[in-house]
Amino acid sequence: MGTAAGVGAVGFNAAAHAADAAPGGSDLSRPPAGAPGSGGQFSLLRAEVTINDCEVDGKIPAELDGGFYATGPDPQYPRLPNNILFDGEGHVRMFRIQNGRVDYRTRYAKGERYQLQDKARRSLYPMYRNPYMDDPSVKGKSRATGNTHVINHKGMILALKEDSPPIAMDLNTLETVDAIFTFGGELPSTQPFTAHPKVCSLTGNLLGFGYEAEGLGSDVVSVFEIDKTTSKKLWETKIKVPYVGMIHDFGVSEKYVMFFCVPMTIDIPQMKRGGIHWSWDRSGKTYFGFFRRGGDGKDLKWFEGPTRSGTHTMGVFDDGKKLYFDTEITAGNPFPFMPNKDGSPPDFKGAESYLHRISVPLNGKAKSYDIEKLYPLSAPLPRQDDRYNTVPYRYGYAACPDPAVDRRAAGACYARMDLQTRTYKLWNAGTRISLAEPVFAPRSATSPEGEGYLMGIAYHLDQNLRSDLVILDAQRVEAGPIATVKLPVQASPQVHGLWVRGDLYPT
Ligand SMILES: [Fe+2]
Repeated sequence: MGTAAGVGAVGFNAAAHAADAAPGGSDLSRPPAGAPGSGGQFSLLRAEVTINDCEVDGKIPAELDGGFYATGPDPQYPRLPNNILFDGEGHVRMFRIQNGRVDYRTRYAKGERYQLQDKARRSLYPMYRNPYMDDPSVKGKSRATGNTHVINHKGMILALKEDSPPIAMDLNTLETVDAIFTFGGELPSTQPFTAHPKVCSLTGNLLGFGYEAEGLGSDVVSVFEIDKTTSKKLWETKIKVPYVGMIHDFGVSEKYVMFFCVPMTIDIPQMKRGGIHWSWDRSGKTYFGFFRRGGDGKDLKWFEGPTRSGTHTMGVFDDGKKLYFDTEITAGNPFPFMPNKDGSPPDFKGAESYLHRISVPLNGKAKSYDIEKLYPLSAPLPRQDDRYNTVPYRYGYAACPDPAVDRRAAGACYARMDLQTRTYKLWNAGTRISLAEPVFAPRSATSPEGEGYLMGIAYHLDQNLRSDLVILDAQRVEAGPIATVKLPVQASPQVHGLWVRGDLYPT
């Protein structure tokens, strides 16, 4: 296990990016924080927790009304040594904040996979996204874990994993209400559903996609829009991608749908040998593509670029001439715990992720995309005010190490970025804390962009991962938390989180 300073650098960064597991990212010889036995924030919990009226330091703003939800992999049964952190049943947690009080609750997303394993009392899906390794008894059953992200749809929490349909849970109790959620039959029960759908900023409708849409190894991506109230599919089209690879996120603007294809490619021979779904092609090109939203996809145009990766979208917009896609970019394999296709050793430096802006002309004959580095922040999980998913935006947020400090001593920070001035502000939580991805909560439904609160989980590395929820004024992050919700236990593992405003709860 690394020193506290090492694993404390950056929340999920540490789990996703092994470089961050080491002190300052300099000693690259250890496994990522959170690997089995490392003690990082991805350590197994396996206990559902309910705590009403949590202890609070400071004062919860009276106006803050809503719920902070998150999910992460928390395996029912310990992972095989050669499995990866991204496998495991989704453990969803909620901080319900209302009238200055905070109630905490966690429940597993109990999809078919969870239920079958619970009954068998053993692991039946032993390898990450590898159906060849599944126990024969689960052939044809859902592999959904709901361990990556959560969204709110019609008063439910949908727990998402990109290889499966959502698992639906009650917004208040987190009890599972539908193990295979298909939007009332609008989407096939076998169709993958992205962990990063977008809520249209203008209509509230839900835009999503599923890759490998027509079965294992399919190069077809299904793209669709779901009505926010009826759950009916408003349109759907199918496009083909240049090669079959991980498409973790995408971009949607008022007029366009965007994809960035990176060479984390499917590796069926590796799967048949008992390995994971992916391997990294160090010679693979990247492709940025877009097509008109609501259309048939026949206008899809791809722009080529060299080998790199970009996993998460921060925001997108166009100015009538060019389309802009803000994303975190790595020079190489973003997940060193995933193998390189050519058998080369992990490249931890190449896994460091920085925020970039990809741009392409809306018209013209360009064949390659342009790219520009936006910030010196190593921030693989950038977020925005989610009300701006599909429209121009100004502010971004992320967990990152302090770039002004040598990584060996850098503390874990929350950053607020101003895209208009290209400046940023940091709150440095210190070296004995690991910060999970933050979420932004607007002061009210109609507050201007950026007015509200930034919140996230601080795992105390010197307190056996006992965790706090820290709440900051998003306009003054550098001032530190205005309230700290103190859990007596480790918070469940987190990949992504969501803020649900109080006015969106069913009455
Ligand atoms: Fe993600």
